Amino acid sequence: MYCVRNVTDNLYWVGGNDHRLELFENIHPIPRGVSYNAYLLVDEKTALFDTVDWSIARELVSNVRSVLGDRKLDYLIINHMEPDHGASIEEIILRYPDVKVVSTEKAFLMMHQYGFGIDNVETVEVKEGDTLSLGKHQIAFVEAPMIHWPEAMVSFDLTDGTLFSADAFGSFIALDGKLFADEVDFDRDWIDEARRYYTNIVGKYGSFVQALMAKAGTLEIKRICPLHGPVWRENLGYILEKYTKWSTYEPEEKGVLIAYASMYGNTEYAAQALASKLCERGVNNVWVYDVSNTHVSYLISETFRLSHIVLASVTYNLGIYPVMHNYLMDMKALNVQNRTFAILENGTWAPKSGDLMEEFLDNEMKYIDVLSGRVTVTSALNDDKEAELDDLADAIAESVAELQLS
Ligand code: FEO
Repeated sequence: MYCVRNVTDNLYWVGGNDHRLELFENIHPIPRGVSYNAYLLVDEKTALFDTVDWSIARELVSNVRSVLGDRKLDYLIINHMEPDHGASIEEIILRYPDVKVVSTEKAFLMMHQYGFGIDNVETVEVKEGDTLSLGKHQIAFVEAPMIHWPEAMVSFDLTDGTLFSADAFGSFIALDGKLFADEVDFDRDWIDEARRYYTNIVGKYGSFVQALMAKAGTLEIKRICPLHGPVWRENLGYILEKYTKWSTYEPEEKGVLIAYASMYGNTEYAAQALASKLCERGVNNVWVYDVSNTHVSYLISETFRLSHIVLASVTYNLGIYPVMHNYLMDMKALNVQNRTFAILENGTWAPKSGDLMEEFLDNEMKYIDVLSGRVTVTSALNDDKEAELDDLADAIAESVAELQLS
């Protein structure tokens, strides 16, 4: 039995899907699953591009066997050896002991560190610009450091324009039979999860993504085969434009994310009041999230999407509410920049969270504006705060209106 799809006449998707894993990297929820993609090119020589997570190793082996039949596997090309792709290397070697494993120097070092079983197999170390002939198909190797691990490379089929892009251009969500981005309504059903994947997994390394995109700009790419999510063979400009925005930390949309931390509902009420006032001012692209019940990976994704962020937090142990603090730390870790913030704080006897959040934004993050007019709530939103909340809504609405997006 097998589960294979043709990418082209002689290139096959031989990966698999996982709906059982709850947390990708044991941290990011994946309620719609994930795919681990591997591709098999059949020419005078045969080459498997990457393997899969251990959880679907059996499917990979079955799929490869179904395509190869009695033929041997000549090359195993490892673009990215992180265990969600590299864990099945040994399974392939055990079944095809004459295979030559092709990858970068750093990748081989890390395969040894993980014990991926490459000691008794021939290895071919490649670097930027090296090529490999499979017969009709010539494969060029392009180093892609820090996308998002240092050992990563991408492979480009010079013969038919296929870019094997490793984690770049990938997405959460299991494929479930679909293979190509044009077989789904990507902009309706996939973009939020593609953004959440990029921003949380690769988002820190925007400058490296820019460097790879500059190299890719010199290639005649006809299709992109990532290690997660669908293959791109049409409308490549759509995903390339998203990557340009994300990797340069430019907002995709003019809009406001209100992230609130509330213990008894009073800060939530203030956040909702502000959201209403923004909509009254014509700023309707407003999204309100409770940081306590929204996984931070979703907050990060929305932070990359939107131009303005309101941090509304209670004071907790004379500090920032811990879950809000975690969101701030994650924004810093993922290099969030070029955003405009506004602050609303709450505290019953010593409101401190506003000062602390503003200090964090000023000292720990880059290219951030904080609007003046912070609102301080003492316990609950009272009528005497109405004017301050109106002023803050005015300031945010004005800033949104003035913003020019490229
Ligand atoms: Fe999908 Fe970096 O592994």
